[in-house]
Amino acid sequence: MTSKACIFAEQAAPRYTSYPTAPHFTAAVGPETYAGWLEELPDEATLSLYLHVPFCAELCHYCGCHTKVVRRREPIEAYAGLLEREVDLLAARTAQQTVTSIHWGGGTPSMLGPDRLIALSDRLAAAFNCAPAEHAIELDPRHIDRPLVQALGKIGVTRASLGVQEFAPHVQHAIGRIQPFEQVAAGVGMLREAGIGNLNFDLMYGLPHQSADDIGRSISLAHQLTPSRIALFGYAHVPWLKTHQRLVDAAALPGASERLAQAEAAREMLVSLGYVPIGLDHFARPGDGLALAAAAGRLRRNFQGYTTDNADALLGIGASAIGGLPRGFVQNAPDIAGYARSVENGRLATVRGIAFTADDRQRGRIIERLMCDFAAELDDFGVDSAVAEALAPLAAEGLVTIDNRRVAMTQAGRPFVRLAAAAFDTYLGKGAARHSRAV
Ligand SMILES: C[S@@+](CC[C@H](N)C(=O)[O-])C[C@H]1O[C@@H](n2cnc3c(N)ncnc32)[C@H](O)[C@@H]1O
Ligand code: SF4
Repeated sequence: MTSKACIFAEQAAPRYTSYPTAPHFTAAVGPETYAGWLEELPDEATLSLYLHVPFCAELCHYCGCHTKVVRRREPIEAYAGLLEREVDLLAARTAQQTVTSIHWGGGTPSMLGPDRLIALSDRLAAAFNCAPAEHAIELDPRHIDRPLVQALGKIGVTRASLGVQEFAPHVQHAIGRIQPFEQVAAGVGMLREAGIGNLNFDLMYGLPHQSADDIGRSISLAHQLTPSRIALFGYAHVPWLKTHQRLVDAAALPGASERLAQAEAAREMLVSLGYVPIGLDHFARPGDGLALAAAAGRLRRNFQGYTTDNADALLGIGASAIGGLPRGFVQNAPDIAGYARSVENGRLATVRGIAFTADDRQRGRIIERLMCDFAAELDDFGVDSAVAEALAPLAAEGLVTIDNRRVAMTQAGRPFVRLAAAAFDTYLGKGAARHSRAV
């Protein structure tokens, strides 16, 4: 890596799971605006549902997710009741649009338990016209058992995403997450027995005390379990936002060039094992839906990352959940108490959001295509001096090419796509949001 590339790798940039990004949502969008946006969805629009469960049995030191530890059953039961109420509130403001995708995320959504998962799923079926082509859930391999897996089969889950992270015991120790290979293998076996064969594994690089060899061994072990997808996330160390990350020994974290080398080595290995690289950090078996969508230029990016989901509207359900509608983005109250106050009083829990301008839509489309395809047609977007200036250093290093019609990352430039996307972001620099490293 050149020293210039190393400097780029140290730069911070949003992950662009949306544009405008969440730090630029404001209180100007509240429950009334959201209700209006829902009510104007045409009957033939398709819906995607995201249900957020912000609970975990224990907190991993590195975790950047919106979650908290609960040890008692009562808060979980109370929260499940709120989710049911919110489903009804949303159903009252939508027509008979078809739900084409359901995703349970967290946190650890299986904390709801088999009975509540089934009850909530029944509630969804009663409230919406549910015909999901994809019904996915995020699972922690340390908490997969037969009653859970049976419930997942019953509610029609088609895909499970398992947090594997890293198999090396010394890294597991350093991140506060002990999870032997046999435990992951047992969970995978149970899911497959229940007919849930579409599996994604999350792996991580850039962890404390982790070497490129550790990552290589983890990939090799993961491969033995034949997941159809692997997501390879670079550890985002943001202790100013997630204070428990102070438990991570910052001195044991790899530097920018080491991180880039780890990501590249992992990528080469996954490709040599037959996985197709997708976007910035995903890999899929050639016949997998994500690989097919990427090849056809149909890959999408939303708050859950890369997806095949192309529903017209995404409804976020639960505390902190984000929704995306044709008119803009909305976010629910992040704290459970605030979320509960709204839902218990029969109000949508929206506290922030943003209504799209024509400029947002144009830039959002370019940023999404860049993040998905590493290239974007500019159509009638006129490259202004701010974009040209922001891209110039990347172009000078041969990482990006741009003319009036098209912007494209070169092969060497792909790891820096977040920086190229940032060149089109007019909000960046406004406000105090700090981001993780671009690589
Ligand atoms: C909601 S968790 C997955 C489900 C379950 N809670 C688990 O951990 O197994 C989402 C994923 O985000 C990734 N992740 C969490 N914190 C991260 C961070 N600080 N930087 C990068 N990726 C992170 C992990 O790979 C994790 O599996
Ligand atoms: S990584 Fe998963 S299990 Fe660990 S704290 Fe975060 S959400 Fe919970």
